[in-house]
Amino acid sequence: MRSTITRREIFNSAHRLFKPELSDEENIKLFGKCAYPNYHGHNYELHVTLTGDIDPYTGFVYDIADLKKIINEEVIEPFDHRNLNLDTTEFSALNPTVENICVVIYQKLRPRIDSKFDLKIRVYETIRNYSEFPV
Ligand code: NI
Repeated sequence: MRSTITRREIFNSAHRLFKPELSDEENIKLFGKCAYPNYHGHNYELHVTLTGDIDPYTGFVYDIADLKKIINEEVIEPFDHRNLNLDTTEFSALNPTVENICVVIYQKLRPRIDSKFDLKIRVYETIRNYSEFPV
């Protein structure tokens, strides 16, 4: 029987949304407060959902301890208490919008999880805004 298991994690990161070819005023017009030059933080909430068959022996779709370890290595360690623009290679030239953060996390986790499981990433940037990937 197919089912899902979701691991929820929190990471706190700084970011700035901007295009280097635009002035500060133009960036703030395009990206709002997230373009302020000196960076700011968000408390990101990550939901990683795996879909697959329930193992009839364990009753698990996926061992949550294994999933926790993979998320910690691929997302929490490199992103938590970091500046996404300055401290990561993924966002050195890619705007760290919540949409792009979702895609990057998917790309980092997908190779670590057997392809027999479907993988869905949801990231909340605020309690009101979130993105999901893949669609
Ligand atoms: Ni922001």
